[in-house]
Amino acid sequence: MLRPPGNWTSDKPAFSASEARGEKPLLVVRNVGIEFGGIAALKNVSFNVPHGDIVGLIGPNGAGKTTLFNCLSRIYRPSRGDILLEDRSILQQPKHRIAAMGIGRTFQNVALFSTLSVRDNIRIGGHSITSGDAISDMIRLSRRRRTEERLDEVAREICEFLDLRPVEDLPVSSLPFGTQKRVELGRALAMRPKILLLDEPAGGLNHEEVFALGSLIVRIRDQLGITILLVEHHMGLVMSIADRVVALNFGEKLSEGTPAYVQSDENVVKAYLGSKAT
Ligand SMILES: Nc1ncnc2c1ncn2[C@@H]1O[C@H](COP(=O)(O)OP(=O)(O)O)[C@@H](O)[C@H]1O
Ligand SMILES: [Mg+2]
Repeated sequence: MLRPPGNWTSDKPAFSASEARGEKPLLVVRNVGIEFGGIAALKNVSFNVPHGDIVGLIGPNGAGKTTLFNCLSRIYRPSRGDILLEDRSILQQPKHRIAAMGIGRTFQNVALFSTLSVRDNIRIGGHSITSGDAISDMIRLSRRRRTEERLDEVAREICEFLDLRPVEDLPVSSLPFGTQKRVELGRALAMRPKILLLDEPAGGLNHEEVFALGSLIVRIRDQLGITILLVEHHMGLVMSIADRVVALNFGEKLSEGTPAYVQSDENVVKAYLGSKAT
């Protein structure tokens, strides 16, 4: 028998194939709260990210989206609640283990090594998950060389996947902004994440680039099997590729459901009135 997910009600249909099969979600955000200087940036936020879904996280500026990402990547520690990846609390893990546990992310502002080549920037992503082996690798040089060769191979494969082969030897600073954003995506992919957190990947891109980004995100999920949590202001993009959407406002969850459900939810419409609806 199909088991409905926890938040299932008649007007919020079960649309995740993995949830409908009764599988446990990949990521669970449970009652998360955090304050800055006594002001709550997140209040009791709970939602699940099922395996293989693209989940959109929307909300007006200051809603708490980046703060939530910072909690998920352990840059911030929530004062309340828990965050589980495959049933294990990430809050119990040391910060440097987060990437190795399978959480990869990109940043709202491009944060690359601008003088390094595209391929080297992507290799750096791979280092963040192999660095636990650094000491034994120093002792066993041959193994280290194998690791380096493997990182190089992975970086090349990722360049191929992202259509970056023609520019892989160029310094990142010489490339257009849209291409730099793809390099950042590549660096996150090199961590071989189970879940990829994308913070406004369409910011600063033109219409065609946004369209291409949408198909790329879908390919990352379909071909690489990576689950996606996507913070995005570009509603057209979120609504066209997300399986489900979570809306935040003033640090609280405002709505959750299919893109169509959330888009027409009165609370969401009201929250966007008077703010820049893009
Ligand atoms: N390090 C911080 N110190 C103080 N306030 C913060 C900090 N990080 C986030 N905030 C506050 O938390 C709220 C949510 O911000 P943010 O998560 O960046 O929103 P969004 O990404 O949805 O635009 C804002 O009021 C912001 O000023
Ligand atoms: Mg933000």
